[in-house]
Amino acid sequence: MAIPVRPRLLAALAPTFLGCLLVQVVPAAGTPQKPFNLTWESTNFKTILEWKPKPTDYVYNVEISSGTRDWKIKCFLTSDTECDLTDEIMQDVHRTYQARVLSVPRNNTYLGEPPFTNAPDFLPYQDTKLGQPVIQHFKQVGTELNVTVEDTRTVVRRNGTFLTLRDVFGKDLSYSLFFRRESSTGKKTASTDTNDFSIKVDQARSYCFTVQAVIRSRKDNKRSPESNMECSDEWESIMGETLIIVGAVVFVVIIFIILLSIYLCKRRKGRAGQKRKESPPLRSA
Ligand SMILES: *[C@@H]1O[C@H](CO)[C@@H](O)[C@H](O)[C@H]1NC(C)=O
Ligand SMILES: *[C@@H]1O[C@H](CO)[C@@H](O)[C@H](O)[C@H]1NC(C)=O
Ligand SMILES: *[C@@H]1O[C@H](CO)[C@@H](O)[C@H](O)[C@H]1NC(C)=O
Ligand SMILES: *[C@@H]1O[C@H](CO)[C@@H](O)[C@H](O)[C@H]1NC(C)=O
Repeated sequence: MAIPVRPRLLAALAPTFLGCLLVQVVPAAGTPQKPFNLTWESTNFKTILEWKPKPTDYVYNVEISSGTRDWKIKCFLTSDTECDLTDEIMQDVHRTYQARVLSVPRNNTYLGEPPFTNAPDFLPYQDTKLGQPVIQHFKQVGTELNVTVEDTRTVVRRNGTFLTLRDVFGKDLSYSLFFRRESSTGKKTASTDTNDFSIKVDQARSYCFTVQAVIRSRKDNKRSPESNMECSDEWESIMGETLIIVGAVVFVVIIFIILLSIYLCKRRKGRAGQKRKESPPLRSA
């Protein structure tokens, strides 16, 4: 009698087991997971917080604060794994910002504190990376090479206008110029506190160069990537020098001709005067 009872008992209990299993499995899939690997991706103050993992059945809230205890929600119930915080950090690039990512159910209701992770502190002035600079224009005449670096516009606004890198960093920002003769490998370096270089090269030949931004006050992320390479035109630089020499020679020759004409004119006049003085006695004779 006992034997048939057991299967029946099992059959009766099975749905309960299954129910138990389901109860355990379903929330497991949707259980908000603690975010990890929070990193700031920031270049010229454009700033995005990134983290892992991709959420399965829950979403994230991102909060930011600047020293005060008030957290401001920025990305609300997002299923992305990144959040653009540029608008917040550009308010004052000299402040230190805290951010955290919270994992919450889609309906945003939870008991107690949801799992969250703090991002490393972020100080925009010090931590934003410098973007690749752009050579705005350059000109070489003879051995004089001038290079101007574009003053990149940042996303930082003041009084409604966008500030440039120079506006934000002032004298803290300098540029390095790396240059070499087109056919040589010996690289030389020059530096400027402005966006303009005016250097003397050894020969009136073609030179190739790149520029790099440098923030002197920094320990990390001190240097930007190097700009694309530009090369001055050999023919132009030689022609430039030749034209200057030709110009100078022409100038000297013109001055000489003028002086010579004046001298010759005076001499002719002098002789004519002498002739006039000499003629009356001749006529009377
Ligand atoms: C997360 O960061 C740790 C170091 O903090 C690193 O070892 C790991 O590879 C990262 N994981 C992923 C998935 O990027
Ligand atoms: C919100 O969602 C969670 C899990 O998805 C659920 O346990 C909870 O009952 C929901 N709360 C409300 C108020 O809908
Ligand atoms: C280079 O710059 C200097 C100083 O700004 C200027 O005097 C000079 O004429 C420039 N030379 C060329 C070749 O543009
Ligand atoms: C903004 O503009 C006002 C007047 O237009 C000026 O007084 C103020 O100094 C400016 N603020 C900044 C931060 O430049």
